[in-house]
Amino acid sequence: MKVTVVGAGNVGATCANVIAQKDIVNKVVLVDIKEGTSEGKALDVWEAAPINEYSTRVVGSTNDYTQTKDSEVVVITSGLPRKPGMSRDDLIATNAGIVRSVTESVIKHSPNAKIIVVSNPLDVMTYCAYLTAKVDSKRVFGMAGILDTARYRAFIADALNCSPKDIQGMLLGGHGDTMVPLPRYTTVAGIPLTELLPKEKIDAIIERTKNGGGEIVNLLGTSAWYAPGAAAAQMVEAIVKNENRIYPCCALLNGEYGYKGIYLGVPVMLGKNGIEKIIELKLDAAEKALLDSSANAVRQVMDVLDKQLVAVK
Ligand code: NAI
Ligand code: 2OP
Repeated sequence: MKVTVVGAGNVGATCANVIAQKDIVNKVVLVDIKEGTSEGKALDVWEAAPINEYSTRVVGSTNDYTQTKDSEVVVITSGLPRKPGMSRDDLIATNAGIVRSVTESVIKHSPNAKIIVVSNPLDVMTYCAYLTAKVDSKRVFGMAGILDTARYRAFIADALNCSPKDIQGMLLGGHGDTMVPLPRYTTVAGIPLTELLPKEKIDAIIERTKNGGGEIVNLLGTSAWYAPGAAAAQMVEAIVKNENRIYPCCALLNGEYGYKGIYLGVPVMLGKNGIEKIIELKLDAAEKALLDSSANAVRQVMDVLDKQLVAVK
């Protein structure tokens, strides 16, 4: 079984490395446009195989998609971060151009692949890949919720001085500061979080989670890669092992939660076909109001992409 990761930058290379260490597929193909980058990083990961004890062959390719032929899953991480002086609309146009051309090449060589989008702005780049791939939306989805809930769970573990392994949490909405962590659906070894921490402390953790991406950018001058790469690899694992794991992922909604035609973070079941099922949680009025405002924010960015596409036609 073969998996392709497009973009051999910080997130893509980390994702390929984590997939290899899981030893769950025969081959990982790492693709980038920068000559030598994917080959060099793939070789480095392959040279770690005898030490870390995996058999997954990792190879690099400079924009040659014939090597990606018949991939089971493709992870798209290619894209630029926002630069000083660049408007949000410029970023959408640039990254949409990259995601569009990459998706065309991916689908041409792997018409049955499941596509996981990581490039930002996440919800809208996933929509862009879906429009380009022209396949069932159950096969095109985005990674954000696993990362955002991982941050949320890590901060809760800090507050309780317990292992993050014992924390289960759920989060809805777009990948940005309108995301909606759900304390009512968060437990610590089965114990409701609301019984273990006061409201003010939970509110502070939610605020930190919403700004989790920015916190890393402020420290590093660029965005995170260890947790994002691991999160995308966890989605790959659920698919290639047909695990039917339940994770928050960015999925196209068709009436679920009262929205139609919008890509938004929701709990889904991930298995061999991609999204096997979208899970609808019962929300109270306050949670639904927060999700409405997150959906509105995502819809506005989707509209920017739609207008750019009309202008191109
Ligand atoms: P990076 O700059 O380290 O890597 C991006 C790579 O994409 C570069 O190596 C570049 O050469 C490559 N690339 C550009 N155009 C390409 C094309 N047409 N075909 C193939 N490769 C191409 O950036 P990093 O840190 O890896 O982030 C990648 C993307 O992921 C960014 O858009 C970032 O904002 C996003 N991101 C999303 C997260 C999420 O939760 N969804 C979390 C972290 C990052
Ligand atoms: C993150 O959340 C910037 O999307 C990126 O780290």
